[in-house]
Amino acid sequence: MQKDFISIHDLTLYEFNELLDLTQEIKEDPDKYRKKLKNKILAMIFEKPSLRTRMTFEVGMFELGGKAVYLSPNEIQVGKRETVEDIGHNLERWVDGIMIRTFAHDNVIRLAKSASIPVINALTDFSHPCQGMADIFTLREKKGGLSKIKLAYVGDGNNVCHSLMLAAAKAGLKMAVATPKGYEPSSAVMEWAREDGRETGFTLELVLDPKAAVKDADAVYTDTWASMGQEQEKEARARVFAPFQVNPALMAFAKLDAAFMHCLPAHREEEVTASVLESPQSVVFDQAENRLHIQKAIMLLLMGKKEKHGER
Ligand code: CP
Ligand code: NVA
Repeated sequence: MQKDFISIHDLTLYEFNELLDLTQEIKEDPDKYRKKLKNKILAMIFEKPSLRTRMTFEVGMFELGGKAVYLSPNEIQVGKRETVEDIGHNLERWVDGIMIRTFAHDNVIRLAKSASIPVINALTDFSHPCQGMADIFTLREKKGGLSKIKLAYVGDGNNVCHSLMLAAAKAGLKMAVATPKGYEPSSAVMEWAREDGRETGFTLELVLDPKAAVKDADAVYTDTWASMGQEQEKEARARVFAPFQVNPALMAFAKLDAAFMHCLPAHREEEVTASVLESPQSVVFDQAENRLHIQKAIMLLLMGKKEKHGER
């Protein structure tokens, strides 16, 4: 495993599968890992709100025998109070790893370059790799494997969609993405996904019609129409995305036992109806739970081996 966890695209196929398998072991026998990060400390930088990410990293560190320190959006004011590089050079003197949720993806890259300790991407405007890994782990768990699975993503071609595509590529899924015109995922990410998926049998279809994407899908995924930082676009987006709502009529195009997936937080009667979100097909809280297990595996792989500065 490399020093940092920034993008699923950076993982080798071996590392990707190792991460899923270690997650399975941790989930099955958490007691075995109780002291694996004893006395290690994770700094958690949050420039945006969070429920799942904060809880799962903090609980995860605790369950591994370490500790997490929360730095709120107003605390260190990334890039305003001091530079990203100076933040990295300070934190590396005190802690063993950094988790950052920020707006500009470049902040994560700069932090990783400046700090000698592992840096974990906990969501940027561009990607959300911890979520993508947890989602593929959930799908594997629910479907008993990943071979021949069709995953439909309906909605905004955003950070969650990007990481989901990169995870789906490594998992060899058949993926269909439906977005309104102008809200497609980044073409660079689609290219990386196709590149990564060449050896796994991954296929990617980009369409404008949600029904075409969802047809015969084993899982249907959606996310908010207005991500954190896009609050002022909320109303305009609601109009554009209305035909992309995941509701019972759309779910009827998927397989009968199709899973409904969402990274949460969900907005009932916007991107998904309450009837779908709360249906027996919904696996959203399993996804949320699996964030804990996948991040424990990520932290173990990144922070479990080297001592800070070789001093301790
Ligand atoms: N899915 C997710 O990352 O949730 P939070 O924004 O609550 O952390
Ligand atoms: N796309 C959403 C995901 C939240 C977990 C956002 O960035 O706000």
